Amino acid sequence: MTKYSLKFPNDFILGAASSAWQTEGWSGKKDGQDSYIDAWYKNDRKVWHNGYGPAVATDFYNRYVEDIDLMKVVGLTHYRSSINWSRFMLDYEQGIVDEEYANYVEQVIDTMLANGIEPMFCLEHYELPAYLLDKYGGWSSLEVVDMFVNYAREVFRRYGSKVKHWFTFNEPIVVQTRVFLDAIRYPYEQDTNKWMVWNHAKNLATAKIVKAYREGGYEGKIGVVLNPEVTYPRSSALHDRRAAEIYDLFYNRVFLDPAIKGEYPEQLLTLLKGNGIDFEPSAEELAIIKNNTVDFIGANLYYPHRVKAPEAEWPRDVPFHPKKYFSVFELPGREMNFSRGWEIDPAIVYDMAMRIKNDYGNIEWILSENGMGIENEVQFKDENGQIQDDYRIDFISRHLYHLLRAIEDGANCKGYMLWSFTDNVSPMNAFKNRYGLVEIDLEDNRNRRVKKSGYWYKELSESRCLIFDQDSEYR
Ligand code: BG6
Repeated sequence: MTKYSLKFPNDFILGAASSAWQTEGWSGKKDGQDSYIDAWYKNDRKVWHNGYGPAVATDFYNRYVEDIDLMKVVGLTHYRSSINWSRFMLDYEQGIVDEEYANYVEQVIDTMLANGIEPMFCLEHYELPAYLLDKYGGWSSLEVVDMFVNYAREVFRRYGSKVKHWFTFNEPIVVQTRVFLDAIRYPYEQDTNKWMVWNHAKNLATAKIVKAYREGGYEGKIGVVLNPEVTYPRSSALHDRRAAEIYDLFYNRVFLDPAIKGEYPEQLLTLLKGNGIDFEPSAEELAIIKNNTVDFIGANLYYPHRVKAPEAEWPRDVPFHPKKYFSVFELPGREMNFSRGWEIDPAIVYDMAMRIKNDYGNIEWILSENGMGIENEVQFKDENGQIQDDYRIDFISRHLYHLLRAIEDGANCKGYMLWSFTDNVSPMNAFKNRYGLVEIDLEDNRNRRVKKSGYWYKELSESRCLIFDQDSEYR
């Protein structure tokens, strides 16, 4: 079969992503340093697959030297994680730093740099301190926003000269959507008002941190990692297109627009008001958002969203939920990752790239997460014990193909970060679905073993060239 190839731009990032809570484990953690996720795991362990969770995770805290060596083996140019806010401070209100944890972060950064791997950090990847959730209601409080900004200032002061890519949040919409809209995660509270208050607090926090970063004169970039959902209407009929448009307002533009354009979409504000959501940000807050938009964004892209006009009228006595305006549509015959229950459609990457180009001023961005979680991967081991994950190589290749095509068409995308470097802990699913280029063996002291995809990624990163079959061109 004829082979084709596409070149990566010279400065293109080929990295991988994870987060603090999904890898580090609790070694060295002090009383009172629980994050929201830790509290969830402690309070509701039964919903975590086979009881695994953040307590040990991959034990990165103790094994980072070994892991950074493995980052070289699999050819990462960059690695994104988070700094765990709940552990970085001993006292969030007084801003007293836990020097032991801060020193660990410094060691990780220095070891990565010494090995030629650039670190990137989020300041929060669901690691809201549990203490601040209990005492202040979390992001319902503007005092928490200010504590977060102070923490960010301290992080920049310590590491700002070494780390050049910063993100305020990872997927800032997720926690409040699962907790306050859908009420399917701890502490299971339905409150759509609160959902919007949290969205706004996080938008405000991003803007305030962008301002603080610029005032500090650091030589790097600051942005936010979002999970914009590439949303397709079932059909071209007006009612389906309207469903997709409204979905986009509530789940995408609520963060994309303030971060990049500095304002909320008017249509969103009208819909909130029309549905009794009491959202009245102050003029001062809106001005901060307006004047401090991000340098770049990360977009986490895994699967397409498909919606259609709502199947039924929204019941009067049920609190407002954006589902009033849409129903989920499942495309017949869709390609699936059945382990995760997510559709696979690599063209989402091209479509998002064109959207960022056309609707968001072609702002610089990276594809900050994309990957494939597969259950029971040990079944794919060869006689030497190496996982033969050709499906992952295929998944990555096809998404990269669409990304490179978009770059040829003018997209301002500077990199691809795979989720994930090693297998790690997912919210609730824990180690059920494996995402890594490197296996974590739970039966054998969490030992690491590079999968077939890990060596393939190394080759990709060195050759800087994606090879694909002729017939894969249109997939
Ligand atoms: C992203 C998150 O949405 O998806 C990660 O940033 C998460 O934290 C990843 O682990 C994969 O999803 P899941 O639910 O399978 O872990």
